[in-house]
Amino acid sequence: MKKLYIKSFGCQMNDHDAEQMVGILKKEGYLLTERQDDADMIIMNTCSIRDKAEQKAYSEFGKLDSLKKLKPDLIIGFAGCVAQQEGAKILKRISNVDFVMGPRNISHLPEIITQVHNRKKVVEIQDESPIAPSRPSHRKEEFKAWITIMEGCDYGCTYCVVPTTRGSERSRPSREIFHEVEALAMQGFKEITLLGQTVNSYGRNLPEIIDFSDLLKILQSIDGIERIRFMTSHPNDLTPKLIQTLRRYPKLCKHIHLPVQSGSDKILSLMKRGYSAKGYLQKVQALRSEMPDLSITSDIITGFPGESEFEFKETLGLLGEVEFDAIFAFKYSNRPNTSAPMLQDQVPEEIKSERLAEILAFQQRISFNKNQRLLGSIQEVLVEGASKNNPERWSGRTGCNRMVHFNSSLSLKGNLVKLRMIEARNSSLEGELV
Ligand code: SAH
Ligand code: SF4
Ligand code: F3S
Repeated sequence: MKKLYIKSFGCQMNDHDAEQMVGILKKEGYLLTERQDDADMIIMNTCSIRDKAEQKAYSEFGKLDSLKKLKPDLIIGFAGCVAQQEGAKILKRISNVDFVMGPRNISHLPEIITQVHNRKKVVEIQDESPIAPSRPSHRKEEFKAWITIMEGCDYGCTYCVVPTTRGSERSRPSREIFHEVEALAMQGFKEITLLGQTVNSYGRNLPEIIDFSDLLKILQSIDGIERIRFMTSHPNDLTPKLIQTLRRYPKLCKHIHLPVQSGSDKILSLMKRGYSAKGYLQKVQALRSEMPDLSITSDIITGFPGESEFEFKETLGLLGEVEFDAIFAFKYSNRPNTSAPMLQDQVPEEIKSERLAEILAFQQRISFNKNQRLLGSIQEVLVEGASKNNPERWSGRTGCNRMVHFNSSLSLKGNLVKLRMIEARNSSLEGELV
Protein backbone atom coordinates (compact mmCIF):
# COMPACT_ATOMS: atom_id res chain seq x y z
CA MET A 1 0.00 0.00 0.00
CA LYS A 2 1.15 3.52 -0.74
CA LYS A 3 1.59 5.81 2.22
CA LEU A 4 0.50 9.39 2.73
CA TYR A 5 1.93 11.93 5.15
CA ILE A 6 -0.05 15.13 5.59
CA LYS A 7 0.53 18.15 7.77
CA SER A 8 -1.89 20.99 8.18
CA PHE A 9 -1.40 24.55 9.40
CA GLY A 10 -3.85 27.32 10.18
CA CYS A 11 -7.51 27.15 11.08
CA GLN A 12 -9.92 24.31 11.74
CA MET A 13 -11.29 24.61 8.22
CA ASN A 14 -7.82 23.88 6.89
CA ASP A 15 -7.54 20.90 9.25
CA HIS A 16 -10.85 19.64 8.00
CA ASP A 17 -9.74 20.14 4.38
CA ALA A 18 -6.79 17.87 5.22
CA GLU A 19 -9.22 15.28 6.59
CA GLN A 20 -11.05 15.43 3.27
CA MET A 21 -7.81 14.98 1.31
CA VAL A 22 -7.07 11.89 3.40
CA GLY A 23 -10.61 10.61 2.79
CA ILE A 24 -10.21 11.00 -0.99
CA LEU A 25 -6.71 9.51 -1.06
CA LYS A 26 -7.76 6.51 1.03
CA LYS A 27 -10.15 5.68 -1.80
CA GLU A 28 -7.15 5.92 -4.13
CA GLY A 29 -5.36 3.28 -2.07
CA TYR A 30 -3.27 5.43 0.24
CA LEU A 31 -2.71 4.66 3.91
CA LEU A 32 -1.97 7.41 6.43
CA THR A 33 1.49 7.45 8.03
CA GLU A 34 2.91 9.55 10.86
CA ARG A 35 6.42 9.34 9.44
CA GLN A 36 7.62 11.59 6.64
CA ASP A 37 10.49 9.30 5.67
CA ASP A 38 8.04 6.44 5.25
CA ALA A 39 5.71 8.29 2.88
CA ASP A 40 5.13 7.94 -0.87
CA MET A 41 3.24 11.21 -0.86
CA ILE A 42 3.69 14.26 1.36
CA ILE A 43 1.15 17.07 1.42
CA MET A 44 1.68 20.30 3.31
CA ASN A 45 -1.63 22.09 3.79
CA THR A 46 -0.48 25.65 4.26
CA CYS A 47 -1.90 28.80 5.88
CA SER A 48 -1.32 32.38 4.83
CA ILE A 49 -3.11 34.35 7.52
CA ARG A 50 0.10 36.01 8.74
CA ASP A 51 3.55 36.27 7.18
CA LYS A 52 5.01 33.93 9.79
CA ALA A 53 2.58 31.19 8.76
CA GLU A 54 3.55 31.62 5.10
CA GLN A 55 7.29 31.51 5.87
CA LYS A 56 6.75 28.39 7.93
CA ALA A 57 5.16 26.71 4.93
CA TYR A 58 8.19 27.41 2.74
CA SER A 59 10.62 26.19 5.37
CA GLU A 60 8.75 22.85 5.59
CA PHE A 61 9.40 22.27 1.89
CA GLY A 62 13.08 23.16 2.26
CA LYS A 63 13.37 20.28 4.72
CA LEU A 64 12.04 17.80 2.14
CA ASP A 65 14.92 18.25 -0.36
CA SER A 66 17.09 15.46 1.02
CA LEU A 67 14.14 13.04 1.22
CA LYS A 68 13.22 13.70 -2.40
CA LYS A 69 16.81 12.99 -3.47
CA LEU A 70 16.68 9.64 -1.67
CA LYS A 71 13.22 8.81 -3.05
CA PRO A 72 12.80 10.39 -6.50
CA ASP A 73 9.28 8.94 -6.84
CA LEU A 74 8.07 10.70 -3.71
CA ILE A 75 5.13 12.98 -4.59
CA ILE A 76 5.16 16.35 -2.86
CA GLY A 77 2.01 18.46 -2.76
CA PHE A 78 1.69 22.12 -1.79
CA ALA A 79 -1.92 22.69 -0.71
CA GLY A 80 -3.92 25.25 1.26
CA CYS A 81 -4.14 29.01 1.32
CA VAL A 82 -0.52 29.80 0.33
CA ALA A 83 -1.00 27.52 -2.71
CA GLN A 84 -4.06 29.51 -3.71
CA GLN A 85 -2.29 32.81 -3.19
CA GLU A 86 0.96 32.02 -5.01
CA GLY A 87 -0.12 29.44 -7.62
CA ALA A 88 2.49 28.65 -10.31
CA LYS A 89 5.07 30.91 -8.67
CA ILE A 90 5.58 28.13 -6.13
CA LEU A 91 6.97 25.75 -8.78
CA LYS A 92 9.62 28.32 -9.67
CA ARG A 93 10.51 28.91 -6.05
CA ILE A 94 10.59 25.30 -4.80
CA SER A 95 11.84 22.68 -7.24
CA ASN A 96 10.76 19.61 -5.26
CA VAL A 97 7.01 20.35 -5.46
CA ASP A 98 4.95 18.14 -7.82
CA PHE A 99 1.59 19.78 -7.43
CA VAL A 100 0.09 23.00 -6.15
CA MET A 101 -3.57 22.76 -5.16
CA GLY A 102 -5.85 25.45 -3.75
CA PRO A 103 -8.53 24.79 -1.12
CA ARG A 104 -11.28 24.88 -3.74
CA ASN A 105 -9.78 22.05 -5.81
CA ILE A 106 -9.58 19.24 -3.28
CA SER A 107 -12.04 17.03 -5.19
CA HIS A 108 -9.62 17.08 -8.14
CA LEU A 109 -6.92 15.24 -6.17
CA PRO A 110 -7.32 11.90 -8.02
CA GLU A 111 -6.85 13.57 -11.43
CA ILE A 112 -3.99 15.67 -10.10
CA ILE A 113 -2.20 12.51 -8.91
CA THR A 114 -2.74 10.82 -12.30
CA GLN A 115 -1.13 13.78 -14.03
CA VAL A 116 1.79 13.75 -11.60
CA HIS A 117 2.29 10.04 -12.37
CA ASN A 118 2.52 11.06 -16.03
CA ARG A 119 5.52 13.18 -15.05
CA LYS A 120 3.66 16.47 -15.15
CA LYS A 121 3.85 19.25 -12.61
CA VAL A 122 0.33 20.43 -11.81
CA VAL A 123 -1.08 23.75 -10.64
CA GLU A 124 -4.78 23.58 -9.74
CA ILE A 125 -6.12 26.77 -8.20
CA GLN A 126 -9.21 27.69 -10.20
CA ASP A 127 -12.63 28.14 -8.66
CA GLU A 128 -14.08 24.67 -8.46
CA SER A 129 -17.75 25.38 -8.02
CA PRO A 130 -19.94 27.98 -6.41
CA ILE A 131 -20.63 25.65 -3.48
CA ALA A 132 -18.19 23.47 -1.55
CA PRO A 133 -19.35 19.91 -2.36
CA SER A 134 -19.64 17.04 0.08
CA ARG A 135 -16.46 14.97 0.07
CA PRO A 136 -15.40 11.72 1.72
CA SER A 137 -13.60 12.48 4.92
CA HIS A 138 -11.26 10.66 7.22
CA ARG A 139 -12.03 11.98 10.73
CA LYS A 140 -9.11 12.60 13.03
CA GLU A 141 -11.21 12.45 16.18
CA GLU A 142 -13.55 9.66 17.22
CA PHE A 143 -16.39 11.59 18.83
CA LYS A 144 -16.08 15.10 17.48
CA ALA A 145 -16.46 16.02 13.83
CA TRP A 146 -16.00 19.19 11.81
CA ILE A 147 -18.37 20.16 9.03
CA THR A 148 -17.76 23.04 6.67
CA ILE A 149 -21.15 24.68 6.11
CA MET A 150 -19.99 27.83 4.33
CA GLU A 151 -16.71 28.97 2.86
CA GLY A 152 -15.14 32.19 1.70
CA CYS A 153 -15.82 35.72 2.78
CA ASP A 154 -17.35 38.88 1.32
CA TYR A 155 -16.41 41.22 4.17
CA GLY A 156 -13.01 42.23 2.88
CA CYS A 157 -11.36 43.46 6.06
CA THR A 158 -8.37 45.52 4.96
CA TYR A 159 -5.79 43.22 6.61
CA CYS A 160 -7.12 39.81 5.62
CA VAL A 161 -6.09 37.32 2.91
CA VAL A 162 -9.09 35.04 3.36
CA PRO A 163 -11.31 36.64 0.68
CA THR A 164 -8.57 35.96 -1.89
CA THR A 165 -7.51 32.51 -0.67
CA ARG A 166 -10.99 31.16 0.03
CA GLY A 167 -12.95 33.18 -2.49
CA SER A 168 -16.31 34.79 -2.10
CA GLU A 169 -18.88 33.57 0.37
CA ARG A 170 -20.88 30.47 -0.52
CA SER A 171 -23.00 28.11 1.59
CA ARG A 172 -23.81 24.44 1.19
CA PRO A 173 -27.46 23.42 0.79
CA SER A 174 -29.02 22.59 4.17
CA ARG A 175 -30.19 19.17 2.99
CA GLU A 176 -26.62 18.13 2.23
CA ILE A 177 -25.44 19.29 5.67
CA PHE A 178 -28.34 17.53 7.37
CA HIS A 179 -27.49 14.21 5.70
CA GLU A 180 -23.83 14.57 6.62
CA VAL A 181 -24.66 15.19 10.28
CA GLU A 182 -27.19 12.35 10.33
CA ALA A 183 -24.54 9.97 8.98
CA LEU A 184 -22.08 11.17 11.61
CA ALA A 185 -24.62 10.54 14.36
CA MET A 186 -25.12 6.99 13.08
CA GLN A 187 -21.37 6.43 13.22
CA GLY A 188 -21.36 7.43 16.90
CA PHE A 189 -20.18 11.04 16.71
CA LYS A 190 -21.51 13.08 19.62
CA GLU A 191 -20.21 16.57 18.97
CA ILE A 192 -20.15 18.51 15.73
CA THR A 193 -18.50 21.83 14.98
CA LEU A 194 -19.92 23.82 12.08
CA LEU A 195 -17.20 25.72 10.27
CA GLY A 196 -17.19 28.86 8.19
CA GLN A 197 -15.12 32.04 7.98
CA THR A 198 -18.27 33.93 8.96
CA VAL A 199 -20.29 30.89 9.94
CA ASN A 200 -23.31 32.88 11.12
CA SER A 201 -23.83 34.48 7.71
CA TYR A 202 -24.75 30.96 6.50
CA GLY A 203 -27.41 30.86 3.81
CA ARG A 204 -26.96 34.38 2.47
CA ASN A 205 -26.54 33.40 -1.18
CA LEU A 206 -28.48 30.15 -1.26
CA PRO A 207 -31.56 29.69 -3.45
CA GLU A 208 -33.40 28.20 -0.43
CA ILE A 209 -34.67 30.64 2.19
CA ILE A 210 -32.70 29.72 5.27
CA ASP A 211 -30.39 31.42 7.77
CA PHE A 212 -27.90 30.15 10.34
CA SER A 213 -30.49 30.00 13.14
CA ASP A 214 -32.79 27.86 10.97
CA LEU A 215 -29.92 25.50 10.21
CA LEU A 216 -29.06 25.15 13.92
CA LYS A 217 -32.68 24.38 14.69
CA ILE A 218 -32.77 21.61 12.07
CA LEU A 219 -29.45 20.06 13.12
CA GLN A 220 -30.19 19.99 16.84
CA SER A 221 -33.14 17.70 16.11
CA ILE A 222 -30.80 14.89 15.03
CA ASP A 223 -30.72 12.05 17.59
CA GLY A 224 -27.29 11.00 18.82
CA ILE A 225 -25.69 14.41 18.37
CA GLU A 226 -25.35 15.82 21.86
CA ARG A 227 -23.37 19.00 21.28
CA ILE A 228 -23.21 21.51 18.46
CA ARG A 229 -20.47 24.12 18.22
CA PHE A 230 -19.72 26.64 15.49
CA MET A 231 -17.02 29.08 14.50
CA THR A 232 -16.19 31.81 13.56
CA SER A 233 -19.07 34.25 14.07
CA HIS A 234 -18.97 37.79 12.69
CA PRO A 235 -20.48 40.42 15.01
CA ASN A 236 -22.50 41.94 12.16
CA ASP A 237 -24.35 38.68 11.56
CA LEU A 238 -25.22 38.13 15.21
CA THR A 239 -28.99 38.63 15.08
CA PRO A 240 -31.55 38.66 17.90
CA LYS A 241 -32.94 35.50 16.29
CA LEU A 242 -29.57 33.76 16.66
CA ILE A 243 -29.36 34.81 20.32
CA GLN A 244 -32.81 33.34 20.97
CA THR A 245 -31.90 30.15 19.11
CA LEU A 246 -28.73 29.72 21.15
CA ARG A 247 -30.64 30.24 24.36
CA ARG A 248 -33.45 27.89 23.46
CA TYR A 249 -31.72 24.66 22.42
CA PRO A 250 -29.70 22.78 25.05
CA LYS A 251 -27.56 20.96 22.47
CA LEU A 252 -26.12 24.25 21.27
CA CYS A 253 -22.96 24.82 23.30
CA LYS A 254 -23.06 28.00 25.32
CA HIS A 255 -19.98 29.42 23.67
CA ILE A 256 -19.47 31.94 20.90
CA HIS A 257 -16.20 32.98 19.27
CA LEU A 258 -16.85 36.58 18.28
CA PRO A 259 -13.68 38.36 17.10
CA VAL A 260 -13.63 42.08 17.91
CA GLN A 261 -10.05 42.79 16.66
CA SER A 262 -9.81 46.21 18.34
CA GLY A 263 -11.57 48.40 20.89
CA SER A 264 -10.96 51.61 18.94
CA ASP A 265 -13.51 53.01 16.49
CA LYS A 266 -10.75 54.61 14.46
CA ILE A 267 -8.97 51.28 14.02
CA LEU A 268 -12.18 49.31 13.46
CA SER A 269 -13.02 51.72 10.68
CA LEU A 270 -9.54 51.46 9.12
CA MET A 271 -9.97 47.67 9.29
CA LYS A 272 -13.42 48.01 7.62
CA ARG A 273 -14.98 45.77 10.24
CA GLY A 274 -18.39 47.38 9.88
CA TYR A 275 -19.16 47.92 13.59
CA SER A 276 -18.13 50.27 16.37
CA ALA A 277 -16.79 49.34 19.80
CA LYS A 278 -20.13 50.42 21.27
CA GLY A 279 -22.04 48.32 18.76
CA TYR A 280 -19.94 45.32 19.69
CA LEU A 281 -20.50 45.89 23.42
CA GLN A 282 -24.24 46.07 22.82
CA LYS A 283 -24.14 42.65 21.12
CA VAL A 284 -22.23 41.24 24.10
CA GLN A 285 -24.82 42.72 26.45
CA ALA A 286 -27.66 41.23 24.42
CA LEU A 287 -26.00 37.81 24.57
CA ARG A 288 -25.31 37.99 28.29
CA SER A 289 -28.74 39.26 29.25
CA GLU A 290 -30.23 36.11 27.66
CA MET A 291 -27.43 33.72 28.68
CA PRO A 292 -25.45 34.94 31.71
CA ASP A 293 -23.21 31.86 31.61
CA LEU A 294 -22.38 32.11 27.92
CA SER A 295 -18.66 31.87 27.24
CA ILE A 296 -17.47 34.55 24.82
CA THR A 297 -14.04 34.37 23.21
CA SER A 298 -12.42 36.73 20.74
CA ASP A 299 -9.50 37.64 18.46
CA ILE A 300 -7.39 40.78 18.82
CA ILE A 301 -4.84 42.33 16.47
CA THR A 302 -2.15 44.52 18.02
CA GLY A 303 -0.24 47.21 16.15
CA PHE A 304 -2.63 47.69 13.24
CA PRO A 305 -1.51 50.72 11.14
CA GLY A 306 -2.59 53.93 12.88
CA GLU A 307 -2.80 52.34 16.34
CA SER A 308 -1.14 54.69 18.82
CA GLU A 309 -0.93 54.19 22.57
CA PHE A 310 -4.38 55.81 22.83
CA GLU A 311 -6.12 53.31 20.53
CA PHE A 312 -4.26 50.45 22.17
CA LYS A 313 -5.56 51.55 25.60
CA GLU A 314 -9.06 51.58 24.12
CA THR A 315 -8.61 47.91 23.27
CA LEU A 316 -7.42 47.14 26.81
CA GLY A 317 -10.47 49.04 28.04
CA LEU A 318 -12.78 46.90 25.94
CA LEU A 319 -11.11 43.71 27.18
CA GLY A 320 -11.60 44.88 30.76
CA GLU A 321 -15.22 45.73 30.11
CA VAL A 322 -16.20 42.55 28.29
CA GLU A 323 -14.09 40.10 30.30
CA PHE A 324 -13.76 37.52 27.54
CA ASP A 325 -13.33 33.95 28.67
CA ALA A 326 -10.30 33.63 26.39
CA ILE A 327 -8.75 35.44 23.44
CA PHE A 328 -6.36 34.80 20.60
CA ALA A 329 -4.15 37.82 19.99
CA PHE A 330 -1.84 38.45 17.06
CA LYS A 331 0.63 41.08 15.92
CA TYR A 332 -0.60 42.78 12.79
CA SER A 333 1.11 41.34 9.71
CA ASN A 334 1.16 42.86 6.20
CA ARG A 335 -0.45 40.49 3.70
CA PRO A 336 -0.44 40.37 -0.10
CA ASN A 337 -3.56 41.46 -2.00
CA THR A 338 -4.79 43.50 0.96
CA SER A 339 -4.99 47.25 1.37
CA ALA A 340 -3.83 47.74 4.98
CA PRO A 341 -0.12 47.66 4.01
CA MET A 342 -0.78 50.95 2.15
CA LEU A 343 -2.14 52.67 5.27
CA GLN A 344 -0.08 55.37 6.98
CA ASP A 345 1.53 55.05 10.40
CA GLN A 346 2.63 51.44 10.29
CA VAL A 347 3.58 50.37 13.81
CA PRO A 348 7.17 49.21 14.51
CA GLU A 349 7.58 45.50 15.16
CA GLU A 350 8.86 45.90 18.74
CA ILE A 351 5.83 47.99 19.71
CA LYS A 352 3.50 45.38 18.23
CA SER A 353 5.29 42.75 20.34
CA GLU A 354 5.13 44.84 23.52
CA ARG A 355 1.42 45.43 23.05
CA LEU A 356 0.82 41.77 22.31
CA ALA A 357 2.57 40.77 25.54
CA GLU A 358 0.58 43.34 27.51
CA ILE A 359 -2.72 42.17 26.04
CA LEU A 360 -1.95 38.52 26.76
CA ALA A 361 -0.90 39.22 30.36
CA PHE A 362 -4.00 41.34 30.92
CA GLN A 363 -6.27 38.66 29.52
CA GLN A 364 -4.54 35.90 31.47
CA ARG A 365 -5.66 37.50 34.71
CA ILE A 366 -9.22 37.79 33.42
CA SER A 367 -9.31 34.18 32.21
CA PHE A 368 -7.90 32.94 35.50
CA ASN A 369 -10.48 34.90 37.50
CA LYS A 370 -13.26 33.54 35.33
CA ASN A 371 -12.01 29.99 35.80
CA GLN A 372 -11.88 30.62 39.53
CA ARG A 373 -15.49 31.70 39.57
CA LEU A 374 -16.38 28.21 38.33
CA LEU A 375 -14.84 26.51 41.38
CA GLY A 376 -17.37 24.30 43.16
CA SER A 377 -19.74 24.25 40.18
CA ILE A 378 -20.65 21.06 38.35
CA GLN A 379 -19.92 20.99 34.63
CA GLU A 380 -20.74 18.48 31.93
CA VAL A 381 -17.60 17.43 30.12
CA LEU A 382 -17.19 15.40 26.93
CA VAL A 383 -14.18 13.18 27.63
CA GLU A 384 -11.71 13.39 24.76
CA GLY A 385 -9.02 11.02 25.91
CA ALA A 386 -6.47 9.90 28.46
CA SER A 387 -3.10 11.49 29.02
CA LYS A 388 -0.29 9.71 27.16
CA ASN A 389 1.88 9.51 30.28
CA ASN A 390 -0.81 8.56 32.73
CA PRO A 391 -3.83 6.48 31.61
CA GLU A 392 -5.72 7.47 34.75
CA ARG A 393 -5.58 11.20 33.84
CA TRP A 394 -8.37 12.26 31.51
CA SER A 395 -9.21 15.48 29.68
CA GLY A 396 -12.32 16.86 28.11
CA ARG A 397 -14.15 20.07 27.38
CA THR A 398 -17.13 21.74 28.97
CA GLY A 399 -19.96 23.08 26.83
CA CYS A 400 -18.37 26.49 27.12
CA ASN A 401 -15.17 25.00 25.66
CA ARG A 402 -13.02 24.99 28.81
CA MET A 403 -10.44 22.21 29.08
CA VAL A 404 -10.86 20.15 32.26
CA HIS A 405 -8.45 17.48 33.53
CA PHE A 406 -9.44 14.82 36.06
CA ASN A 407 -8.49 11.41 37.45
CA SER A 408 -10.43 8.22 36.87
CA SER A 409 -9.50 4.55 36.70
CA LEU A 410 -12.47 3.91 34.36
CA SER A 411 -12.21 4.33 30.60
CA LEU A 412 -14.51 7.25 29.90
CA LYS A 413 -13.49 8.32 26.39
CA GLY A 414 -16.43 9.63 24.38
CA ASN A 415 -18.71 9.92 27.42
CA LEU A 416 -20.37 13.01 28.80
CA VAL A 417 -19.53 13.08 32.51
CA LYS A 418 -20.38 15.43 35.36
CA LEU A 419 -17.39 16.95 37.12
CA ARG A 420 -17.05 19.28 40.07
CA MET A 421 -14.47 22.02 39.47
CA ILE A 422 -11.82 21.88 42.18
CA GLU A 423 -8.86 23.90 40.90
CA ALA A 424 -8.50 26.80 38.47
CA ARG A 425 -5.52 27.43 36.18
CA ASN A 426 -4.91 30.02 33.49
CA SER A 427 -6.26 28.03 30.60
CA SER A 428 -7.78 24.93 32.18
CA LEU A 429 -9.49 23.55 35.27
CA GLU A 430 -9.07 20.49 37.46
CA GLY A 431 -12.23 18.51 38.09
CA GLU A 432 -13.42 15.48 40.04
CA LEU A 433 -16.15 13.01 39.13
CA VAL A 434 -19.41 13.45 41.01
N1 SAH B 1 -13.45 35.45 9.88
C1 SAH B 1 -12.96 35.71 11.16
C2 SAH B 1 -11.45 35.70 11.25
C3 SAH B 1 -10.66 34.72 10.46
S1 SAH B 1 -8.91 34.94 10.52
C4 SAH B 1 -13.46 37.10 11.59
O1 SAH B 1 -13.81 37.90 10.79
O2 SAH B 1 -13.44 37.38 12.72
C5 SAH B 1 -8.54 34.61 12.20
C6 SAH B 1 -7.92 35.75 12.93
O3 SAH B 1 -6.62 36.02 12.42
C7 SAH B 1 -8.63 37.07 12.77
O4 SAH B 1 -9.72 37.19 13.63
C8 SAH B 1 -7.57 38.08 13.06
O5 SAH B 1 -7.53 38.40 14.42
C9 SAH B 1 -6.30 37.36 12.66
N2 SAH B 1 -5.72 37.95 11.45
C10 SAH B 1 -6.24 37.93 10.20
N3 SAH B 1 -5.43 38.61 9.35
C11 SAH B 1 -4.39 39.06 10.08
C12 SAH B 1 -3.23 39.84 9.78
N4 SAH B 1 -2.99 40.29 8.56
N5 SAH B 1 -2.37 40.11 10.78
C13 SAH B 1 -2.60 39.67 12.04
N6 SAH B 1 -3.67 38.94 12.38
C14 SAH B 1 -4.57 38.64 11.42
FE1 SF4 C 1 -11.06 37.94 7.02
FE2 SF4 C 1 -12.68 39.89 7.76
FE3 SF4 C 1 -13.59 37.88 6.28
FE4 SF4 C 1 -12.95 37.47 8.81
S1 SF4 C 1 -14.59 38.79 8.07
S2 SF4 C 1 -12.40 36.18 7.07
S3 SF4 C 1 -11.21 38.82 9.09
S4 SF4 C 1 -12.12 39.39 5.64
FE1 F3S D 1 -5.06 30.21 7.27
FE2 F3S D 1 -6.50 29.88 5.14
FE3 F3S D 1 -7.49 29.23 7.49
S1 F3S D 1 -5.18 31.58 5.55
S2 F3S D 1 -6.48 30.64 8.86
S3 F3S D 1 -5.75 28.30 6.48
S4 F3S D 1 -8.59 30.13 5.80
